[in-house]
Amino acid sequence: MSAQTIEDLFEHELEDIYFAEHELTESYERIAEQVEDEELKEFVESHIEETGTHIERLVDVFETMGEAPQTEECEGIEGLLAEWEEFAEENEPGPIMDYYNLVTLMKTERYEQSAYESLVALAEQQGKDEAADLLRSNLEEDEESLDRLAEMADNYDYDSLS
Ligand SMILES: [Fe+2]
Ligand SMILES: [Fe+2]
Repeated sequence: MSAQTIEDLFEHELEDIYFAEHELTESYERIAEQVEDEELKEFVESHIEETGTHIERLVDVFETMGEAPQTEECEGIEGLLAEWEEFAEENEPGPIMDYYNLVTLMKTERYEQSAYESLVALAEQQGKDEAADLLRSNLEEDEESLDRLAEMADNYDYDSLS
């Protein structure tokens, strides 16, 4: 779509993250099936639920604009998830795969973080306060998730990889 106004741009980005959150839910379910590390498994399972809440909030954002939710294909997230699929096909569950799972989750959360940061800014700029609040809630939760993942990476047992 050709975006002529800040509102068009905002809608484009909103539809992109709405698509991405659905794609992420599917992939997190696949990751949860084969992850072995208990802490990471628990994280992924709770993040699937949280992502459901993010989707609900996005539906509410569309509603504040008087619109039904729409999607815009998000090739950024699709690419990250396609890389994960390929790696998962070539590797058995275990320490190496788990580290790759962790890194993939950090990449997708960082993508989400950037998307939500700009969506909050665009909503605020347009005076869409309710939408900004909803989007900020998603941003804050994904930031917390990223903090947890970064902590797991900091304390990673790198010896398990060799
Ligand atoms: Fe999210
Ligand atoms: Fe997330």
